[in-house]
Amino acid sequence: VNAVAIVPAAGRGERLGFGVPKALVPVRGTALLTHAVRGLLDAGCVRHVVVAAPPTEVEGTAELLRAAGLTAAVVAGGADRTDSVRRALRHVVEIIPDARVVLVHDAARAFTPGAVIRSVVAAVAAGAPAVVPVLPVADTVKQVDPAGTVLATPDRAALRVVQTPQGFDTATLTRAYAEAGDSATDDAGLVEQIGVPVATVPGHHYAMKITTPFDLAIAEFILSAGEA
Ligand code: C5P
Repeated sequence: VNAVAIVPAAGRGERLGFGVPKALVPVRGTALLTHAVRGLLDAGCVRHVVVAAPPTEVEGTAELLRAAGLTAAVVAGGADRTDSVRRALRHVVEIIPDARVVLVHDAARAFTPGAVIRSVVAAVAAGAPAVVPVLPVADTVKQVDPAGTVLATPDRAALRVVQTPQGFDTATLTRAYAEAGDSATDDAGLVEQIGVPVATVPGHHYAMKITTPFDLAIAEFILSAGEA
């Protein structure tokens, strides 16, 4: 199965302190977005990538990827992540009406192993309408009130940390984006809202979200170690 991948990278978040949006922060001289798109295309099961970029950066982003030898479509993102994915999804449905499997992948998870990408696509191809890569939780997790006082300790064995790419049957994701009322912090959350089951496959530590300078140091390590 050939999947189509959406990469929302339209945020202007500059929390990493490089003075550029996170997707453009370099690791070994190459932007996180470039690493992420290359990882998707190199996985061997993604035939098309659609990136949502800040509206003023569409041409610049397309040029960045072209210069890296990568073929990807770039569309203008929206006001928030959900809106950016919705716009990219509309583009996917327009240009590839027969795309049956769609992935949504964080640019910040730039070093996700190809094996994770392939197993998400394979699970959707095998019939799961929605699939997320997950890891067990190593730390005990507490639920707290706004003052920080502990309310409860959920059973750690039943908790998972969720990564991307998240994979969907295209019709299911399209319906979730059309029907889900509340916003969600991940795409599978919208699918859950419309009552569709979400399956899990094993993720990988290298699929970590790069958000802090510490994470960037880990990313340098991953790159020097090669893919798992
Ligand atoms: O800022 P935040 O961490 O919530 O962004 C999560 C992801 O969503 C980032 O990859 C960011 O580029 C993307 N995003 C987007 N369109 C927006 C805002 C954020 O694609 N308008």
